Amino acid sequence: MQIFLDTALIDELKKGADTWLVDGCTTNPSLAAKAGREYNEVLKEICSVIKGPVSAETVSLDAEGMVKEGIKFSKIAKNIVVKVPMTAEGMKACQKLTKKGIKVNVTLVFSANQALLAAKSGAFIVSPFVGRLDDIGEVGMNLIKDIRLIYDNYKFTTQILVASVRNPIHVLESARVGADIATVPYSVFEQLFKHTLTDAGIKKFLEDWEKVPKKRQGSM
Ligand code: E4P
Repeated sequence: MQIFLDTALIDELKKGADTWLVDGCTTNPSLAAKAGREYNEVLKEICSVIKGPVSAETVSLDAEGMVKEGIKFSKIAKNIVVKVPMTAEGMKACQKLTKKGIKVNVTLVFSANQALLAAKSGAFIVSPFVGRLDDIGEVGMNLIKDIRLIYDNYKFTTQILVASVRNPIHVLESARVGADIATVPYSVFEQLFKHTLTDAGIKKFLEDWEKVPKKRQGSM
């Protein structure tokens, strides 16, 4: 499963890229606001740090506006993927951009029927939001299972990107049900490396290593 970072903060992306484990990046208007810089500038810098797909979100509500924004984004770098919302206008924009060879990520997906329409519209990526579903008392991961089943039934190649990830369990479940990508906040990415038994194990091995007889310096 690919792991993307869900952030527009360059420091986080640089630290992530330095692990060689980050396959891409997703941004949205809320994350862009946190970055506090002009969006196109930030996207350009992100694309210089992250070599995989970088999602840039449109804000128009009509297909024509989304297509215009998408074409502009696509000129920033080769790895830009244009995000459009799951609306009828969004699906028209998805079809138009896809026909022009521009990759599209259909975002704000909360039902399997919406994911079906995104795939039929030629989306490169579909973004179901698990955390926001959990927040309202639904089981977000059930949506991922349904989309996986439907896409496999019809051999859709649209990649399932699990979005709105809140914790490592979401990442684990994404991998278990066969999602293609999980996009995670940097704090969750850091958590993936950690286990208290790993820390305790390192501590114990280092303590025991001190007890291993060593050759004196200069002796053969
Ligand atoms: C990513 O593409 C989504 O925009 C993001 O994961 C949404 O996360 P949130 O529900 O925490 O805002």
